[in-house]
Amino acid sequence: MNPSFYITTPIYYVNAKPHLGHAYTTIVADVACRFNTMRGKKTFLLTGTDEHGDKVVRAAQKENLSPREYADEISRLFRNLWPELNINVNYFIRTTDQSHIAVVEQILQKIYDAGDIYFSEYEGLYCFGCERFYTERELVDGKCPDHETEPEIIKESNYFFRMSRYQDWLIDHIQRHPDFIRPERYKNEILSFLKEPLEDLCISRPKTRLQWGITLPFDTNYVTYVWFDALLNYVSALGYPDGEPFKMFWPAAQHIVAKDIIKPHGIYWPIMLKAAGIPIYRHLNVHGYWNIDQSKMSKSLGNVVDPIQIKNTYGLDAFRFFLMREMVFGLDSNFNEAALIQRINSDLANDLGNLFSRVVAMIHKYFEGIVPEIDRRIEQESNLGLESEASTMIAEYEKTMESFSFHKALIAIWDFISLMNKYIDVNAPWVLAKSRSTQKKLEVVLYNLLEGLKCISGLIYPIMPDTAATMQRHLGLAPDQPFYHLDRIKTWGTMEPGTRLPKSITLFPRMDSKAFGSYASPKQSEPLAVSAEIKPEISFETFKTIDLRVATVVHAETIPKAKKLLKLEIDMGQRKTIVAGIAASYSPADLIGKQVIVVANLKPAKIMGIESQGMLLAAVDNHECAVTMPDKNVKAGTPLS
Ligand code: ME8
Repeated sequence: MNPSFYITTPIYYVNAKPHLGHAYTTIVADVACRFNTMRGKKTFLLTGTDEHGDKVVRAAQKENLSPREYADEISRLFRNLWPELNINVNYFIRTTDQSHIAVVEQILQKIYDAGDIYFSEYEGLYCFGCERFYTERELVDGKCPDHETEPEIIKESNYFFRMSRYQDWLIDHIQRHPDFIRPERYKNEILSFLKEPLEDLCISRPKTRLQWGITLPFDTNYVTYVWFDALLNYVSALGYPDGEPFKMFWPAAQHIVAKDIIKPHGIYWPIMLKAAGIPIYRHLNVHGYWNIDQSKMSKSLGNVVDPIQIKNTYGLDAFRFFLMREMVFGLDSNFNEAALIQRINSDLANDLGNLFSRVVAMIHKYFEGIVPEIDRRIEQESNLGLESEASTMIAEYEKTMESFSFHKALIAIWDFISLMNKYIDVNAPWVLAKSRSTQKKLEVVLYNLLEGLKCISGLIYPIMPDTAATMQRHLGLAPDQPFYHLDRIKTWGTMEPGTRLPKSITLFPRMDSKAFGSYASPKQSEPLAVSAEIKPEISFETFKTIDLRVATVVHAETIPKAKKLLKLEIDMGQRKTIVAGIAASYSPADLIGKQVIVVANLKPAKIMGIESQGMLLAAVDNHECAVTMPDKNVKAGTPLS
């Protein structure tokens, strides 16, 4: 296994502020880096800004700034965003950096000297938005597919890069390295493009038209085409050709881009490398587009998502989790807050959060917060192991993380979480705790649950680094020795007996789904709506003393001065009055004629001066309630058993 890992994002144009799309790609790079750190590799994450070209000149003009001033301002926004999103950037490159410019000049000269750059007159269809010439067949209804504007015919003398010479070589390279471009659909897209003859690439712009660029070393009347300049950032950032980082990291290079820019990365870039005598990168990882509520994110639609606002509203780890879980890498995905809230409440608060607080609470309840020592024979005899399930899950996680199928890695972890929840239900620690004879089993069950949590805390680290650290602190793992190394995670049974654990906490507060759209606020001060702790056990005899009946609501009305209450007349074989605190979720009309479940033998109590002669059953979650109703009509008064 190569000991180093080098990952890059596109360098972003400085013509607009960073948004969700940029955040996604850069978070993916961070996740991939952290995962490779867990595998013991030395990692390097590169991102930066692409600052030359027409686009930037025009954006700067709009703001009455020079291209340099404008680029400084927007580049700073990008640079400052990454730490906010907990992305560890090793180097932030700007194409206006002197060191980058020197490498671009050097490589241009090298390719020119080798005869792969020539001068020629060209007349073609030019899109100013894309800053490139188009062939007829690339246009859609005669228009640029990106800008939907008709390109202009331009005739000028320019320098051309002899890409056509390398077409067969590139096809062969892609075929001999099946995962060079992944996922496969994008490899196929590039191969299908390469079925047509490849045209040479115009790599210069006359200074009469554009000055904001890198001057060609062999002709000072021209600047370099922005893509030829920008792509070289991936090697200039490492100190090409002699820098130590270049020697160490370049052989392991992987790029991440969205589908919009696969052509420059899948065609121009490998050919540029080949022509310059630089080894070819290892993988091009291509993801799809985030749409917003099913439409393209765009300034004109006013639906551009600001990652900082999402972070501030929902929490960073929840945001990172959502992005990685929701998008199938390679396909488009839809971003909306309702879906984000849904994932926070179900995957994070309910599944992971509840499991965590439930287990830690049981350690406190049954073992005074101390990790128990276990007897392995008991584990084997009683078939209480979880280790083999954990190791199957870790293998799937490793495989899918390596191939950028992050959602699959998370599904594997969440399947394990639900398996652990079942393990609790099946082994019922509260029953084991009742008798001295099952004490040893109880120790094994809870120890294994702690081990499972430890494993999960390590595996979520690339995606949710803060949550991983919080879990590990509460599992009593040494903070100076974070448990992030895959080999350590794979070793089952390393929780130290005798370690005292801090009290349980809520990892993820539930979000109020009603508030979405206006950036819902987390209910920080409220406890988990679904109580982490199951109430103390009762016997069947005790349960039988509660008389639960189906009742039909024959009348319902509001109660003046009691906004939260409804007064219900119910029929359960006999008529009764019930006062229920459900007015926030139900109107009287919602209930009349419906059947509900009531506790028929509850001692009557006076509520707002009305005698309530029973209680109806409802699920209550942060003031939102759902009344329990039988799924078909039965005779009023039918008992529940
Ligand atoms: O193309 N969904 O810069 P750029 C997902 N400077 N990702 C998105 C996205 C969306 N809706 N919108 C943007 C450039 N991205 C060149 C790159 S590299 C040598 C030069 C992300 O600012 C995605 O990574 O237009 C996409 O490829 C990139 O931003 C385009 O950034």
